[in-house]
Amino acid sequence: MSADFTQTKPFSLPVEMQAYLTERNSPPSEHLQSLRQIAAEMPQGGMRLGTEAGTFLSVLVQTMQPTRALEVGTFIGYSSLSIAAAMPPSGRLLCCDVNDTWTAVAREHWQAAGVADRIELVLAPALETINDQPSEPHLDLVFIDADKTNYINYYDALLPRLKPNGMMIVDNTMWSAHVLDLDDTSDDTVAIRAFNDYVAADQSTTNVTVPMGDGLTLITHAR
Ligand SMILES: C[S@@+](CC[C@H](N)C(=O)[O-])C[C@H]1O[C@@H](n2cnc3c(N)ncnc32)[C@H](O)[C@@H]1O
Repeated sequence: MSADFTQTKPFSLPVEMQAYLTERNSPPSEHLQSLRQIAAEMPQGGMRLGTEAGTFLSVLVQTMQPTRALEVGTFIGYSSLSIAAAMPPSGRLLCCDVNDTWTAVAREHWQAAGVADRIELVLAPALETINDQPSEPHLDLVFIDADKTNYINYYDALLPRLKPNGMMIVDNTMWSAHVLDLDDTSDDTVAIRAFNDYVAADQSTTNVTVPMGDGLTLITHAR
């Protein structure tokens, strides 16, 4: 199989097609728009979840109505706000991150959007935070978007905590097609490749990857 690894997003839609969809898909809220603007002016802004993927999360959450959710990797809060704003008011989202500067931006926007009371942010390595949570299934939704080298560890720690009808969503599983480039042996690429293979081999779950943005893999317990 050959792929053009010179492009950063080899699976992007043609510009005209993307523009057509962007004009017709629901626009992000004013608070999400503000986060887009802030990210656009940051050197690390590319870490923000893509706009379509954010709306996709909102639509899923709107229909699932999860009461307990956990996010690994919050940054400036784009995905967390997309999730929390669509949760029921009684819902609770636990956000895991290690960076207080970036998550301060998230906190401001959660406050402005009126969802701060649904969110708890813990600043500590996510594996520690996860392991402090009850070990039995209690989570309706999990979203993973942090350090790639821990993806398998997050999966192993969170799967037992996911309710029978819960959903785990993992971002960046296409990794700009670098997973296909066996000459790419960087830590993150090796980790994403290993994660995808690990999930594929796990008969206890059902998974499907939505080729949106950098790849969103949806995982449930198998039936
Ligand atoms: C790709 S960004 C998350 C983007 C975010 N989901 C959004 O939509 O804007 C990754 C985040 O993971 C955090 N992170 C990296 N290693 C971590 C760790 N071991 N534990 C918790 N958070 C971590 C970083 O501080 C960063 O904010």
